[in-house]
Formats: sequence, structure tokens, C-alpha cells
Amino acid sequence: MQVSVIVLAAGQGTRMNSDTPKVLHQVAAAPLLHHALSLAQALEPSRIVTITGHGGEAVAAAATAFNEAIETVVQDPQLGTGHAVAQAAPLLADAEGEAIVLYADTPLIREDTLRAMLEARAKHAVVILGFHARDPGRYGRLLTKGDELLAIREFKDATPEERAITLCNSGVICAEAKLLFSLIAEVKNDNAAGEYYLTDIVELARKRGLSAGVVLCDEAETLGVNTRQQLAEAEAAFQSRARADALENGVTLTAPETVFFALDTWIGRDAIIGPNVLFGPGVTVESGAEIKGFCHLEGCHISRGATVGPFARLRPGAELAEDVHVGNFVEIKNAILDEGVKVGHLTYLGDAHVGEFTNIGAGTVTCNYDGVMKHRTTIGKRAFIGSDTMLVAPVTVGDGALTASGSVITEDVPAEAVAIARAKQVTKPGLATRMFEKLKSIKAAKAKGQS
Ligand code: UD1
Ligand code: CA
Repeated sequence: MQVSVIVLAAGQGTRMNSDTPKVLHQVAAAPLLHHALSLAQALEPSRIVTITGHGGEAVAAAATAFNEAIETVVQDPQLGTGHAVAQAAPLLADAEGEAIVLYADTPLIREDTLRAMLEARAKHAVVILGFHARDPGRYGRLLTKGDELLAIREFKDATPEERAITLCNSGVICAEAKLLFSLIAEVKNDNAAGEYYLTDIVELARKRGLSAGVVLCDEAETLGVNTRQQLAEAEAAFQSRARADALENGVTLTAPETVFFALDTWIGRDAIIGPNVLFGPGVTVESGAEIKGFCHLEGCHISRGATVGPFARLRPGAELAEDVHVGNFVEIKNAILDEGVKVGHLTYLGDAHVGEFTNIGAGTVTCNYDGVMKHRTTIGKRAFIGSDTMLVAPVTVGDGALTASGSVITEDVPAEAVAIARAKQVTKPGLATRMFEKLKSIKAAKAKGQS
């Protein structure tokens, strides 16, 4: 089935009280817009068109950053949801198959819900996503008769009887693309708001003898973000759903309520995630890996059998191969750790490659930044980096080589060599005792002077 998706993202979002366009505010480390685009993409549509307006350039940039194939159209001025959809007509009026309209400020709609709407198209020409609202507030009301949707009445235009209805419009609409645009072309703005209402297409379709129907979803899915309070609610709802999904997919979460996922976090079956772990964008964790408590991960890949933490930080470009061990107070950025590498404690590895089964001692630092440029460190296989080694990049340590503890390595170390780069130890017999006696007598003389 061919599908085109239109994502409405032109609204101002005044109530966010922000300089940032509403749909660029983040939930689960991703702009609201990306939640809508990721839902759209799950349907494998032929086209996705985003309608931008307020903050248009930044919103369009965020859309193409998500996927270059996404098209954007500017709606200026913003004359209502019907007018917004009409902006996509030049691109999609001749599109084959179905069109779905989504709002970019509504991040919790499920893929299954949209699929149910596409299925319901077999019965109705226009399908609306509705929900029973605990507090229907200012939502558009769905006027139904049996299986048929007669009209959507906007709150401003509704009679007291109509306002008493609790079955509401989520805003998501599905119809054949050609029909959608031909109906939109007939929408007028003779209503209380003076806007072109997308919702008018229901009555327009019925006038043509076509039928309209409702697919129901849980109210939680339709949470729209208009305020920072609702942004926080959407975050909480996303997280509890992501935790439930992870558990369902065979991931162990020892304290689920303390783990925070990003929109694109991917975790394999039988992975174990300890308490207080935060996933930033772009993290993949393979089956059977273990992330211990208090880790902060972003833009990294953790392979099967690897263990990370507690208290580790993996930054973008950190790639851990199978059975790598990264321990406490270790930070890794833009570095590849091959199979079986061990980095147990208090270490920074940045812009580096570490060969398989190499051991990195406590307190090792890749000194990758000279204040102006970044440089790479390359460490071979089965090498042994002694504790407190400073690797002043660019520098290479060969396979099977060893650096002595406390070394400042500024020159390449050939394979199988030992590099010692520290001052030689000088030992003075009996000096400690003589020094302490001298210091004690100085202290006693000072105390006498003060009394
Ligand atoms: C709309 C629906 C209402 C529904 C509610 C659900 C209409 C006429 N009403 O009302 O039935 O219950 O959503 O939340 O459709 N937008 C544009 N351009 C515009 C106007 C809006 O892109 O010119 C976008 C907004 O950015 C937003 C979405 O469309 O993402 C909805 O607009 P909004 O003004 O919030 O519609 P409501 O009045 O809440
Ligand atoms: Ca709204």
C-alpha cells in the first residue's frame, strides 16, 4: 500500500514561553518533530512532507537532519489546519494511495494505531483518530451515529449539547490522497475562529455521499505538547512506555523507573541495565551486554558480552567490541576498543584505537588535544599500558608493547618494546627520620614563640 504522510509543524507554540520553535523542544533526547517523523517513517511511506511556519528554517533543517528525503513546505501565514494541509497539495495532489495527517507536537501516537486507521479505510473514505477524553476541554467533538462519523465540531463552534460530548478528535486523519486534497480545496473559513479547518472535510465528504468513521485510541497517545508542563508529561509517558517495551523485549532493568531512554535507543535481548543509566541519542547495545549503574551513554555501540560501568561515560564514537570491559570513572570518546580490551578504572580514551586484548591501566589519559587540534592515539593488540600513562597524541604503541607506570609517552613505542618515560628514582637511607625530627623541632619552636 502506498502512503504519504503530512506532518503539521507550523504552529507557534506561544504557551511554551520559548525562543525555540515548539516542535524542536525535546522528549527522549529528540525534538518532538522527530517523534512524528519516526512514526511516519515506520509506515515506510513513499513521501513525507513537513509543513513549517514559525521557526521555519530551523524546523526544516531538523526535518532533513532526520532524513534527507523528507520534503518541507512553508505555510505563511498560518490560516488553520486545513490551510496547512493544502500547502502540501502541489507536492501530493497526484500521489497514489493513502494520505495521513500527523501533528508534530503529538509525540506518543503508536504505529499500530495508524495501521488500524489504514485498515479502517476499507470501510470509510475518511478515517479520524478519536479518543474518549476525561476532560474534553477545547478539543473538537466527534458527532457520530452508530458506526458513522457525521461531523467534527470545533469547540468554539459547538452548542452546549455538542460540548457535552466526550468523544474527541486527536487530529490524525487518513484518506485517499487525491480525495483529501479535493475536499481540502472546498474548505472555507466561515467559522468562529475564521480559520480553514481540516476537520470540515468530514461533512464535505458526507455531502458527496462518502462515509467517514472513527478509530479509537487511548487518550494517553494523543497527548499534545502546548506547555512545558505537557512536555514533562510527554517525557514521563515516553519513558514509562520505553521501559515497558524494553522489559517486554527481554531486557533486564533492575530499577526500570531510574533508566532513561532516547527515541532511537536500541537494546538487544538479555542485555542487563542497572540503576540510574541515561541513554542519550544514538546508542545501540547488543544482546547480553551489561551496563552497570550510573552510566551516561550517547552515540556509542556496545557489543555482546561487554560490561560497562558503574559510573562510566561513553560519548559519541565510542565503539566497544565483544567482551570489552570498561569500568568505573572511565570516559571514552571517538574511540574503537577491539575485542577483549580492558579499561578498568579512572581513564580517558579519546580519538583512539585500541587493539584486541590490550589492558589499559588505571589513570591512563590519551592527551588528544593540544589546545588547537585533536590528535589520534593508536595502541596495538595485547599491549599493556601501565597505570598513569599519559599518551601524548599523535602517538602509536605497537602490538605486545608495554609502557611503564607513570610514563609520559611522547614518542612511538615499537611492537614488543618497553617504554619507560619517567624520572629515575633516588633513594636516601635514613633521610625520612632526620627530616621529620627537624620539622617537629621547627613546629615546637613556633608554638613557643606564640605562647
Ligand atoms: C485541532 C483540531 C481539533 C482537535 C485538536 C487536537 C482543527 C480545526 N481542529 O485543534 O479538532 O481536537 O487539534 O489537538 O483541526 N497547525 C499548522 N498550521 C496552522 C494551524 C495549525 O501547521 O495554520 C498545526 C499546529 O502546529 C499543530 C496542529 O496543526 O501541530 C494543530 O493545530 P492547533 O492550532 O493546535 O489545533 P487545535 O485548535 O488544537
Ligand atoms: Ca492544539
